[in-house]
Amino acid sequence: MRTIEWHNGTVKTINQLKLPYKTEFLELKTCNEVAEAIKTMKIRGAPLLGAAAAYALALTAYHSKAKRREELIRELEEAAETIKNTRPTAVNLFWAIDRIMNKARAFHGSVTDLAFFVVDEAEKIAEEDANANRSIGKHGASLINDGDTVLTHCNAGALATVEYGTALGVIRAAAEQGKKVRVIATETRPKLQGARLTAYELKRDGIPVTLICDTMVGYVMYKRMIDKVIVGADRIVRDAVINKIGTYQIAVLAKEHGVPFYVATPKSTFDLTRKSAEVIIEERSPEEVTYIGAERIAPKGVTALNPAFDVTPLKYVSAVICEEGILYKGDLSTLKPKTAERK
Ligand code: MRU
Repeated sequence: MRTIEWHNGTVKTINQLKLPYKTEFLELKTCNEVAEAIKTMKIRGAPLLGAAAAYALALTAYHSKAKRREELIRELEEAAETIKNTRPTAVNLFWAIDRIMNKARAFHGSVTDLAFFVVDEAEKIAEEDANANRSIGKHGASLINDGDTVLTHCNAGALATVEYGTALGVIRAAAEQGKKVRVIATETRPKLQGARLTAYELKRDGIPVTLICDTMVGYVMYKRMIDKVIVGADRIVRDAVINKIGTYQIAVLAKEHGVPFYVATPKSTFDLTRKSAEVIIEERSPEEVTYIGAERIAPKGVTALNPAFDVTPLKYVSAVICEEGILYKGDLSTLKPKTAERK
């Protein structure tokens, strides 16, 4: 399943707010349309945000009427600002924008050549993500035993990436190798990415999935129902993994119960120049908590907190699985992954 595609000046992607009830495709033609889709979470998931950000610049370049290279660079700079102001936490979005803008500024061809260069670079970013996820799957599958039950949180599947997924990519790869893997997926309040998207993807692939409320994680670990936890990440900094709200409590519970806690993510999610205190954790509308869909579930006048992500210190992380291999404790600082499991 390819989640995002470029078709001659149009970005085609799935409207994730409509899943699992309806498969609706968006056809986006401007940077502002991409920005709106990101803000409203029609497009979401860190690696997909990177690809979407790249394609927003591609749309700007492709449809530009600029006559001079400098004029196009100015338009791209404006588009870059618009996209950077959508969601603050997933680093992939900033990484993709900076990668394209740095290369565009250093490009010294004609304005037409520059426009095509930007489109090509966006296509490269998308293709690299699809390939990275296959490699993450291959490396991560070595950590999964036949018969394992894996707990995952939020959606780190094909829908959160260009293709295949990170955490779900590992599970998919293990299943493709013939291992019997069961998944326990948390519903992931308030936006329900686990219930709506992870359950949808796994059911579609025929991988057994059981849904639990976020409040049930302690109980299923106490009952020894979980062999491994695998989640994705929105940003990996020097001291922590930043991922969907609720990840931290799962990691603490996993440590308490001796369950390995793995993070599967491409290197575009690494931000090792920063520490967690420097990262903006997105705060979303309290109404996402006080309502489920159109229905208010809390008394009028009651407000709510709604941080979209939390911070899991690295001491809770057994390993990070990236496209180059598996980074165990201490390897993150050197970025020297192992390709086989180290006990
Ligand atoms: O708010 P979302 O749905 O964009 O958050 C997504 C997550 O937190 C995912 O776990 C993360 O982006 C990793 S996706 C491979």
